[in-house]
Amino acid sequence: MAQTFESIKQYPGVEDGMVAKALDGACRVVKSNLPEFTDKFQSSNSFDNFYEPTENVEWTTGFWTGVIWLAYEHTGDEAFKEAALVQVDSFLKRIEEKIDVNHHDMGFLYSLSCVAAYKLTGSETAKKAALLAADHLAERYREVGKFLQAWGNPGEPKEYRLIIDCLLNLPILYWATEVTGDQSYAEKAENHIKTAMKCVVRPDNSTYHTHFIDMVTGEPTHGVTHQGNRNNSAWARGQSWGVYGIALSYRYLKKPEYIDLFCRVTDYFIEHLPEDLVPYWDFDFDTGSDEPRDSSASAITICGILEMAKYLDKEKADKYLEAADKMLRALIDHCANTDSKVSNGLLLHGTYARDSKENTCTNRGVDECNTWGDYFYMEALIRLSKDWELYW
Ligand code: GLY
Repeated sequence: MAQTFESIKQYPGVEDGMVAKALDGACRVVKSNLPEFTDKFQSSNSFDNFYEPTENVEWTTGFWTGVIWLAYEHTGDEAFKEAALVQVDSFLKRIEEKIDVNHHDMGFLYSLSCVAAYKLTGSETAKKAALLAADHLAERYREVGKFLQAWGNPGEPKEYRLIIDCLLNLPILYWATEVTGDQSYAEKAENHIKTAMKCVVRPDNSTYHTHFIDMVTGEPTHGVTHQGNRNNSAWARGQSWGVYGIALSYRYLKKPEYIDLFCRVTDYFIEHLPEDLVPYWDFDFDTGSDEPRDSSASAITICGILEMAKYLDKEKADKYLEAADKMLRALIDHCANTDSKVSNGLLLHGTYARDSKENTCTNRGVDECNTWGDYFYMEALIRLSKDWELYW
């Protein structure tokens, strides 16, 4: 075991002024990116630490719009708001014309772009787009097994499975219920997390990335990885989707059993951190390994802890907040970028996908920035700088 909550106490935490300085530096990089990335989006991952412009495709473009909204909140600079609203129009077109949306990632795409826009500006365009996205996600709900199918055509036998990442797609359904009064969105989300928790959390508190469901009985059959090192290993980012995903569903549903699940998956994450507190891409690897890191997994876990700490008893909250504080300091020290000449991203040393014998990936975005790492790093900073109203 690499760490304990006791051993983590020896690390430095975030000092006075560090959060403001990190946010100011991040906002400067974001501002300098606006000319290139307003009509276009950032590629999912950087290439030699620089994002390239893309159309509004894949599951990741919402993170960049979310980063712009966070920069707007921190600075009040209208240039950010104008750029983000241009992107909201693109998101409406994308969902109306069903461009690259045959998957479950409507929350990642639309919570951070359009729900954020609606909450911050009251934009009706954004509300319309986000509700269309929620409808589209709800169509992926499978009654047999009670879950949201991640990939492929809904009902396709070889893709009859859920993935842990989907927990971050549930908040747009809770939001849609709040806005419309239609309970069916939230019911689907609640059923999904119930099914997911039954099968993805292992007895040792690590998690499966994906889990198949029997199409006839609805019973979970077997877990396999897609992006982890092995079917039975703990993919670091998958574990972090578990941490933050459970916290977000707790926020909306207040189911007491989620507290224990949150503690279990978060303990596993923290107890498997290497000496410098920046996780490797899979927890098969530990201090001294040559394998790449995934800084984004740490940023996601920090946000999950900052959210869940609001609901935990003081002793538990303090324990997790102390760990999050040390992990954020490690990101600021080892991964943060505030110099546009070094990178146009905010968080270095992420890994999108790494190939291994048991997964089906090819190397992609290895030791690079990725848009979600940037987003969650900045969300963590914003959470520490003010009483932040979530986009989720
Ligand atoms: N949700 C896909 C990933 O984390 O790579």
